[in-house]
Amino acid sequence: MTIQNEILRLKKEKDAVILAHYYVRPEIQAIADYTGDSFYLSRIAEKLENHTIVFCGVTFMGESGALLSPDREVLIPDAEADCPMAHMVSRSDVETARKTWDDLAVVCYINSTAEIKSWSDVCVTSSNALQIVRSLPNQNILFIPDRNLGRYVAEQVPEKHVMVVNGFCPVHEQIKAQEILMLKESHPDAEMLAHPECSEEILKLADYIGSTSGIISHAAESQKQEFIIATETGVQYELEQKRPDGRFYFPKTEPVCQDMKKITLEKILFVLRTGENSAHISESLAAAARQPLDRMLELAE
Ligand code: 13P
Ligand code: SF4
Repeated sequence: MTIQNEILRLKKEKDAVILAHYYVRPEIQAIADYTGDSFYLSRIAEKLENHTIVFCGVTFMGESGALLSPDREVLIPDAEADCPMAHMVSRSDVETARKTWDDLAVVCYINSTAEIKSWSDVCVTSSNALQIVRSLPNQNILFIPDRNLGRYVAEQVPEKHVMVVNGFCPVHEQIKAQEILMLKESHPDAEMLAHPECSEEILKLADYIGSTSGIISHAAESQKQEFIIATETGVQYELEQKRPDGRFYFPKTEPVCQDMKKITLEKILFVLRTGENSAHISESLAAAARQPLDRMLELAE
């Protein structure tokens, strides 16, 4: 029996469902029941009624799944698959801002640990950050931990005073303007699609800025056939499903998230067989960390 068939058999036996982010390996996206961006996966996780959810992504995604589906068993195929940006803000950054600014909302990118979420007023993802920040009653916003998405929100929502901290995604920040300019020169008809975790110089070169789902839907509906893609290379799998006639060009230094790639079919099989690596969050932390996620789901409706 192939490993894929064994996973399918165990999935049925254990009433399990597989969720995968667009950055995981293509063979995992191929067997997943649901594939999507961070917002889509959070919404799905909240609604699922299966006994077990295997969350194929970095640990903050599994944690968010466990927060939103407290009655389900959420399994993380590799507990070491951690997003470095998810830790890039300290409690004192948040406490200082709360003491300094009246009328402040702490807006937390979902790419953060459960503990960081628990210090925050509302979570956002890259697909709903603009909409949610615009809808908040507060004038002052502390956006944590991603300085790039925070800066993009500040530009797009000028009516708010948006402050950022110093977090960043190393995978998106490594993309260099020079590489994009070279691609634009060799493919002058291509549209350039970028994720807002990229630096300012990259976003200035973009024709479209959006989450992984946004980038995929934009390419699916575009009149163009060639696309320069400024995000993690895992999106290529879904881009090719949606636009089999499309041509996709990634920066030469290949933005690859090594943590997302730690998830393998073998590790999925292992957690399904053993039930190990259950995402567990203490009751006291879960209550505080779930609130900003619930508020995100309400405000994004
Ligand atoms: P989205 O899929 O929500 O755009 O998130 C990108 C990302 O970096 C996830 O780690
Ligand atoms: Fe974190 Fe960046 Fe990897 Fe996303 S791509 S999981 S933000 S390191």
